[in-house]
Amino acid sequence: MIKLGIFGAGHLGKFHINNWKEISGIELVGFYDPDDSNAAKVEKQYHLKRFADPAELISLVDAVDIVAPTNHHFVLCEMAIRNGKHVFVEKPMADTMAEGNAIVKLVREAGIKLQVGHVERFNPAFLALKGYDFHPMFIEVHRLAQFNPRGTEVSVILDLMIHDIDIVLHLVKSDVKNISASGVAVMTETPDIANVRLEFNNGCVANLTSSRISMKKMRKMRVFQKDAYIGIDFLARKTEIIKLKGEGDDQLFSFDIETPQGIRTLAIDNPVVEDNNAIRMELTAFRDSILNNTATAVSEREGLEAMHIAHQILQKIESNFAIAKSSI
Ligand SMILES: NC(=O)c1ccc[n+]([C@@H]2O[C@H](COP(=O)([O-])OP(=O)(O)OC[C@H]3O[C@@H](n4cnc5c(N)ncnc54)[C@H](O)[C@@H]3O)[C@@H](O)[C@H]2O)c1
Repeated sequence: MIKLGIFGAGHLGKFHINNWKEISGIELVGFYDPDDSNAAKVEKQYHLKRFADPAELISLVDAVDIVAPTNHHFVLCEMAIRNGKHVFVEKPMADTMAEGNAIVKLVREAGIKLQVGHVERFNPAFLALKGYDFHPMFIEVHRLAQFNPRGTEVSVILDLMIHDIDIVLHLVKSDVKNISASGVAVMTETPDIANVRLEFNNGCVANLTSSRISMKKMRKMRVFQKDAYIGIDFLARKTEIIKLKGEGDDQLFSFDIETPQGIRTLAIDNPVVEDNNAIRMELTAFRDSILNNTATAVSEREGLEAMHIAHQILQKIESNFAIAKSSI
């Protein structure tokens, strides 16, 4: 049995508690949340012991799940890691790059497992493409959400776009050589809407748009590569591949297109998307990495890499804003 403590029992923390209860091999020891009124409700509704002292809870467990607001991630991670406990921490891994770098160093020194909650890696629409031969040249991403004060302690880049930054870095596997970005703070003090262009050393370009002030929701990624277009709808949980028809594609719906080079046959593939619970899967993967002593599904290095790009984007947006202001 892995003894586990939860830090932060807010909106997402409650989903985590429900899921941990269904995962075998886990003994939920209790939770820490400084909000008295919320904690009293959670204690009663989930029959879970509340701890008033985070250090006491850490001393009693093998692993922690940090679902507190981002500005508290580092202090909690540090306390857990220094005590040799495994850590699951929500995205973004930490607030500042200094904190992110310190977490990577602490993990290396302590030899514990740390997984970052980039849950879209476990989205069934993305999992349906497991093993697919990605070599993107152009990626277009839209992640639009309606306004919700939750999460606005950080910019839309660190709140929403970071999901797509993580997936794009995971797919492209090349270093980012140039970033262009534009963003506007409309409802909060930090950018609420942003458009970003990432140029990679291998020639790939990714355009990412994120908004938390939209009227409708959208979470779509379109990946273009030499032989295929891959559409991933993270919200509707649908995946589509349109590709040049090749060997083994006889079962797929196909159609011909006349080109100056002759007839080209395209095939449409809709990989089976399983009806999975992404949160349950990411938490189970964390459990398995502890039990089997294997690498975590989203490591602290990948968490830091996504933060690094997100912070560079924010710097670009800030410097563009400063230039625009100075020219008024
Ligand atoms: N992976 C995702 O898709 C996803 C989605 C939503 C939120 N998140 C992340 O999860 C985290 C929490 O988000 P939320 O929406 O649940 O926020 P929330 O505001 O609903 O809940 C946060 C809870 O943490 C508690 N808290 C505050 N300080 C704390 C501390 N020092 N120690 C322990 N608990 C503390 C608060 O009292 C509150 O109950 C954030 O980092 C956010 O970025 C990730």
